[in-house]
Amino acid sequence: MPVPTSPRIAIVTGSAQGIGAAIAERLVQGGDRVVLLDLLPSVSDTAERIGADDAIELDVTDIPTLQKAIREVGDRYGSLDTLVNCAGTCGRESFEELSLATWNRDVNTNLTATAFACQAAVFPHMKRQQSGRIVNIASVSGKVGGIGSTDALNRSGAAYASAKAGAINLTRWIARDVGDWGITVNTVAPGPIASPMAAGGDYGVDRLPIARMGTPAEVAGAVAYLVGPDSGYTTGTCMHIDGGAVLA
Ligand SMILES: NC(=O)c1ccc[n+]([C@@H]2O[C@H](COP(=O)([O-])OP(=O)(O)OC[C@H]3O[C@@H](n4cnc5c(N)ncnc54)[C@H](O)[C@@H]3O)[C@@H](O)[C@H]2O)c1
Repeated sequence: MPVPTSPRIAIVTGSAQGIGAAIAERLVQGGDRVVLLDLLPSVSDTAERIGADDAIELDVTDIPTLQKAIREVGDRYGSLDTLVNCAGTCGRESFEELSLATWNRDVNTNLTATAFACQAAVFPHMKRQQSGRIVNIASVSGKVGGIGSTDALNRSGAAYASAKAGAINLTRWIARDVGDWGITVNTVAPGPIASPMAAGGDYGVDRLPIARMGTPAEVAGAVAYLVGPDSGYTTGTCMHIDGGAVLA
């Protein structure tokens, strides 16, 4: 399987803050040319702070605009080596109070946008290159049906857990399809990570085998492995970065 050489061209969605910003920073530090993509205007400041190449302000649920932006990055740089789908939203309503608006937002952001971002990265650039690395950021919520305390205010919601489970299986599906073209597709499933999304939540981390919140940098380390030269025989897998939350 071809191994991308540095500097690789990388896109990280949801990278204005939190885990996505840490992933983008880690890739920049590894010598990659990184394009940040987020709906927050502060994505430009983040790109400047970490030394990224460019920032694109857009909503990943606007699928035609998302696909156009991804393909244009590949056109502009002459290749597209890495795509990390990290943009995510997490409703926390109880099942009784779950609204269609929350369902659609969380499914569109966490699952639908991931599917069509992968499509735009593979066709045409990664397929033409016969190489590429895709990492989709899911969640252990997609493995165990939502994490956090049993208090509905803290537990990640039904739409989120369903969408993240879908992202894990979507990843497996695409991995079977694109392996012949030298493209790997993997999922990273974080547990409770100290980021703006998790702020104020009670995740009961004292019950975990590793009894603390994880850091965005610890998730970024897993992504760096999966997009790097040592992971050429790894595809369709789901790596838990969760302090043992799935075991607990
Ligand atoms: N923090 C955790 O404990 C945790 C646990 C498991 C999984 N995750 C996942 O990790 C990823 C990053 O989460 P985080 O904790 O850094 O959250 P965060 O809220 O701090 O960051 C998410 C980023 O995604 C962006 N985003 C959201 N919707 C978007 C859209 N429609 N278009 C473009 N950008 C959009 C936000 O603006 C933000 O910059 C998410 O996919 C999340 O589901 C987080």
